[in-house]
Amino acid sequence: MRVGNKHYRTIWLKEDNPKIVQIIDQRPLPHKFVLEDLANTDEMAVAIKEMHLRGAGLIGAAAGYGMYLAGLESKQSTAQGLLDYLKEAGEKLKATRPTAVNLEWAVHRQLDAVQNAKSVEEINKILLDTAHAIANEDADYCKSIGENGVAIIEKISKAKNGDVVNILTHCNAGWLAFVDYGSATAPIYEAQKRGIKVHVWVDETRPRNQGARLTAWELGEQGVAHTVIADNVGGHLMQHGMVDMVIVGSDRTSRCGDVGNKIGTYLKAAAAKDNSIPFYAALPSSTIDWEICDGVKEIPIEERGSEEVKYIAGMHNGELKTVLLTPEKSAAANYSFDVTPSRLVTAIITERGVMDANEEAIIGLYPERQ
Ligand code: MRU
Repeated sequence: MRVGNKHYRTIWLKEDNPKIVQIIDQRPLPHKFVLEDLANTDEMAVAIKEMHLRGAGLIGAAAGYGMYLAGLESKQSTAQGLLDYLKEAGEKLKATRPTAVNLEWAVHRQLDAVQNAKSVEEINKILLDTAHAIANEDADYCKSIGENGVAIIEKISKAKNGDVVNILTHCNAGWLAFVDYGSATAPIYEAQKRGIKVHVWVDETRPRNQGARLTAWELGEQGVAHTVIADNVGGHLMQHGMVDMVIVGSDRTSRCGDVGNKIGTYLKAAAAKDNSIPFYAALPSSTIDWEICDGVKEIPIEERGSEEVKYIAGMHNGELKTVLLTPEKSAAANYSFDVTPSRLVTAIITERGVMDANEEAIIGLYPERQ
């Protein structure tokens, strides 16, 4: 998507040195636009764990390129030695963050791709091709999510005689969370392209404020009308007819349609249900965990450090600052994700189409996962 007048993806190989992976460092956004070079698996693991990059699709693509870097850094001279090294590197990457299933999915896709390769050179070539394939597929799938989801916005727009469609979103499931387009934002960008009037309510999304910092920034860069709101505001807006639909992303969705997403999503879904407002989850199929059905019981929920709750970061007099928000000695809990049960989800939008949030409908669209 656009940053100023230039098109960017969120991850790529450095133009003059393909042994370096470049990313947009998301920590200083929206105040500073900074690129970061990553030269080995350890640096990639830190970038994922410390959230220099984040979001399910991008974490998956980063894991793909992390495995490519592992191949380059390895000193192994035999195919078997390198395969063993890659398994260890994969474990290191998988340990960085637990909730987004795209991470383990990408590591296993790389390991499966190389398992029958016969030489170090062949393995390294496959790792590079597969990393590119994962990233390109993520971008393509998000584009298709936009094309499949826009019909929903178009229908609401028609019902309102072309008046503005008000969409509420939570966290950042925008292009910054993927390789391009985003999942929740893709139908919005497609609607804007087609001249449908949209306005987005952006939940700030404490504690890390991905909505206020990232979604607001990327919508602004693309010229989409939006308003940032505190996390508690959505219910009030819904009660007063100011929200037409909710679209969120997902970090792990069960085969039965339970949607794991950023903490606070469940409360928005409950409020949407209470106000008969449709609630959609937009996600590429790489985010579906085909092994689990009961998401509330089975989706692992990341707990991050209490400092993210106790401190808040922002710009002051041209400098990025972090300040203490709570009493210094208060304990703080930081559950980073929650699970919205399928009964609260109107439908799931994927690269293949729009499906009801239940196992039958999901398998109907993905029969190979029977
Ligand atoms: O902790 P994060 O920022 O990696 O959380 C992931 C998310 O951005 C959200 O949960 C998002 O809505 C779904 S991931 C595209």
